[in-house]
Amino acid sequence: VISQAAEELQLESYVIGGFVRDFILQRGNAKDIDIVAVGSGIDLALKVSELLPHKPKVQVFKNYGTAMLRAFDLEVEFVGARKESYSEDSRNPVVENGTLEDDQNRRDFTINALALSLNKSNFGDLLDPFNGLEDLKTQLLRTPLEPGITYSDDPLRMLRAIRFASQLNFVIQKKSLDAIKENYKRIKIISNERITEELHKILLSERPSKGFALLHKTKLLKIILPELTALEGIDEIEGQRHKDNFWHTLEVVDNISENSDNLWLRWAALLHDIGKAPTKKFHKKIGWTFHGHEFVGSKMVYKLFKRLRMPLNEKMKFVQKMVLMSSRPIAVVDDDVTDSAVRRLIFDAGENIDDLMTLCEADITTKNPRRCKKYHN
Ligand code: CTP
Repeated sequence: VISQAAEELQLESYVIGGFVRDFILQRGNAKDIDIVAVGSGIDLALKVSELLPHKPKVQVFKNYGTAMLRAFDLEVEFVGARKESYSEDSRNPVVENGTLEDDQNRRDFTINALALSLNKSNFGDLLDPFNGLEDLKTQLLRTPLEPGITYSDDPLRMLRAIRFASQLNFVIQKKSLDAIKENYKRIKIISNERITEELHKILLSERPSKGFALLHKTKLLKIILPELTALEGIDEIEGQRHKDNFWHTLEVVDNISENSDNLWLRWAALLHDIGKAPTKKFHKKIGWTFHGHEFVGSKMVYKLFKRLRMPLNEKMKFVQKMVLMSSRPIAVVDDDVTDSAVRRLIFDAGENIDDLMTLCEADITTKNPRRCKKYHN
């Protein structure tokens, strides 16, 4: 239908971006599809709607020159091919109409610049000026332009690079990673909502530690989640050391991710020890302690969710509860506490008991696998 509509309007049209990438990678069911028209994307969307039997409503975003309609469970977004140029002091690019190639040039990664033709003359042809297909095969993230330009133009792309590396298990090209290390401070101009969207996607990937280790390596994490980087390092006093709670946290997150797809449980795993940095103390007799870290941590969750513009609702309360309780079953194991203590724990956890146990198991397994076994028995 899009092809027919474009022909009637005498425009060129292409499928571009994530849909093409995921189609080639045979990744899951697409929810949205981006169409680029060499001409007006809005006119194309209106024509497509006219040709579809159910005449879907077209949402027009005049300021952006884009339009969107829903068809066959897909959100179809239409945009006119554009050429973008950025200036140092503005976040918003100067936008002009352009060719397909101009449009591919302005995209973030070669694997996201692939276009499939919907034109009669070459229907189904893949237009791949930057060899993105090869990058899909070799699992490489590379920018079409010099990486310093791509990242500086839109700093969110630094996070997107890390998100795709984590989500698709790709490698970021060395000069691209170096450019992120140089430009990381520019992430400050990006809104917290957009940052959070990427964090959710990193957390939902198969092995989130890959993304968080990259965020750490590029110093982005210190800007985005300083509560986490504060957990890094091992102190030693009088020969007594504590574990590195940052790397331990990443292990717990991976462990949880093997057992649960629940985004909020994964957040809880990521934040379960954040109260440990502000509560850390050394006592001559007992060594390192983190007394009260659960309470401090659950309060920190509120501030962190607020800052990241995450919902301050039941989901947040769930994360707080998990952080508050995550070390209690460990106490049960450690002290071999009586049945009544276990009953109390189950009562307090309420309907979240299974999630709490999954989290505790992940936590204990990364500390001492044998203890976990004993607990399970
Ligand atoms: N894009 C870009 N720079 C950005 C965001 C998006 O160049 N900061 C381009 C890319 O070509 C991308 C397309 O716009 O493929 C669509 O963006 P989006 O829908 O946000 O991401 P997808 O690549 O489709 O991936 P996903 O759906 O997994 O988020």
